[in-house]
Amino acid sequence: MNSIKVAILGFGTVGEGVYRTVETHQEELAAVLGKKVEVVAILIKNKQKDRGIGNEVLVTDDFEEIMHLPQLDVIVEAIVGREPAFTYLQRSIQKGGHVITANKEMFAYHGEELKKLAEAHRVSVGFEATVAGGVPVIQTIQQLLNINRIKKIEGILNGTSNYILSEMRVNGQTFPEALKAAQDKGYAEADPTNDVEGFDAFYKLLILSEIAFGEKPVWESVPREGISSITEEQITQAENLGLRFKLIASIQLDGEKVIGSVRPTLVTESHPLFNIEGVENSVSIEGDIVGRITLQGPGAGMLPTASAVIEDLIHAVLETKLPEAEGTRRRSLHASRDQNRVQ
Ligand code: NDP
Ligand code: HSE
Repeated sequence: MNSIKVAILGFGTVGEGVYRTVETHQEELAAVLGKKVEVVAILIKNKQKDRGIGNEVLVTDDFEEIMHLPQLDVIVEAIVGREPAFTYLQRSIQKGGHVITANKEMFAYHGEELKKLAEAHRVSVGFEATVAGGVPVIQTIQQLLNINRIKKIEGILNGTSNYILSEMRVNGQTFPEALKAAQDKGYAEADPTNDVEGFDAFYKLLILSEIAFGEKPVWESVPREGISSITEEQITQAENLGLRFKLIASIQLDGEKVIGSVRPTLVTESHPLFNIEGVENSVSIEGDIVGRITLQGPGAGMLPTASAVIEDLIHAVLETKLPEAEGTRRRSLHASRDQNRVQ
């Protein structure tokens, strides 16, 4: 039986999570896909670090070495920043591989170009992990759009900021202490500026806007502010008044225009985001038919993000060219339904 050959670009929090999950969940993947999933190559920057990766996997700092592999079905991109990530994904698509990315900054800038290129090459682009970690926001919006017009999306989209605000309020940590803890847990970006200055939530908002409204707002028109200037004293004062700071990102249709904002906001106990704590994200989507739906869950971290990437991998394989795999999935779904009936 052929296997599905995967390359992972980047072996930090996300790349390692994907690699480990493929290793630990072979049985589940084979049941759904009818094939083994094999990580054949990993791209890193520093070749001296020990990664604990099997010898059968090509570990390289040279992307071209990966492009020269004879078979590559899926390329997962989990590196940082716009370049070289965008160029690597263009090359991967041109080579005929499905691509999956967790890199929201790159995708906010270049997502539409990648989607067009992928369409021309008849491969798919997965980007569920770019927004809200393990929470399936993108596939939910895509599903709602079958019948709904989306009116508004609002929520907490940056796990690091919410984690820092919670740690400062609940455990009395200073801002630097809480940020350091978020970095140690793999929530924060290597350069946390994007997290604490609101850029990360802004990029996520742009990605959501493109799916929900088919366009982005004028970037400069979106007020963007992060949590970096909120002091411990302000958090305590707010707490004494029964209020909490939340970094709220919002995007909506205003007539024909898309408008959005990212800003720290004081909320009262009755606000739906008041009790969203730690690394949790929460996203409310308002559709004209369904009303308001709220999704909540881990917005960052190794395994939740790996879960989103692997969901994309499964979609890429099932929705494209593997009839054998689709048959297997149907059989396994029927089998589990039958099992449920017996129990
Ligand atoms: P890390 O900083 O933990 O890891 C980045 C990895 O990419 C490292 O292995 C690094 O190599 C490698 N890398 C960086 N630049 C290059 C390059 N030019 N060429 C080759 N390899 C390179 O980042 P994360 O895993 O946290 O994040 C990866 C991406 O996923 C980011 O875009 C981030 O925004 C996004 N993301 C992160 C989430 C999280 O919870 N952390 C959740 C969702 C998305 P080396 O190891 O040698 O330094
Ligand atoms: N740094 C990001 C966050 C990772 O804290 O939300 C998930 O996108």
